[in-house]
Amino acid sequence: MKRPVMIALDFSSTDAVEEFLSKMPNESLFLKVGMELFYSSGVSLIHQLKERGHQIFLDLKLHDIPNTVEKGMKALARLNVDIVNVHAAGGSEMMKRALEGLHAGTPTGIERPKLIAVTQLTSTSEQVMQQELKIHGTMKETVQAYAKLAKESGLDGVVSSPLEVPLIHEACGESFLTVTPGIRLAGDAVGDQKRVTTPIDARKLGSWGIVVGRSITASADPTKSYEKVVAEWEEQS
Ligand code: C5P
Repeated sequence: MKRPVMIALDFSSTDAVEEFLSKMPNESLFLKVGMELFYSSGVSLIHQLKERGHQIFLDLKLHDIPNTVEKGMKALARLNVDIVNVHAAGGSEMMKRALEGLHAGTPTGIERPKLIAVTQLTSTSEQVMQQELKIHGTMKETVQAYAKLAKESGLDGVVSSPLEVPLIHEACGESFLTVTPGIRLAGDAVGDQKRVTTPIDARKLGSWGIVVGRSITASADPTKSYEKVVAEWEEQS
């Protein structure tokens, strides 16, 4: 798989997705579908996007008892999506069973979806993690420990901030995948993201793939912004 630029389809309806895609180049894209869109437009949208040649990161962040996550992943694997994810906080047994579910559900002759884990949400501060979640290490120690647990459970990688990539590579090796949101083109509005990175800097920090939402989706010219992101990203290859 080429190191991807994934576009976050943070829309609430199929119509909004179609309107956005009509402004994009007519080529195969890597699209991230999250809870809002999946819960409103369901599997039919995934089938439509796949039939048109797009790749999909289905960002549903499963976190439940191992048996439920295994069965859920078995169902998601049948959608022929390319990346799915879980919360590492569900523990090693849950992550292993998620992988088993994916193996069981992947149709013959098709590559298993990559499975990555969320370590700590980038919206969680160290203070909230320690005081509310009662996790007593530092954010750095926790992200590294959760990434290591994901790797030992057989997962392909993690979702993280680009700024955390070096410490994840230190704990898990360079080949462990890092998918990183929080990306902005220089000069774009930061919005609610706390710490943002340009595509060039994400690449320099070692991100395997980047997730870009509003820098492309809220742009007056989404194709131009997408091409700018890809040019920055691929220049570092
Ligand atoms: O618009 P923006 O580029 O900020 O969108 C980032 C996307 O990545 C959103 O879909 C957001 O939910 C997702 N994401 C994130 N931070 C995480 C995990 C996912 O921003 N830690």
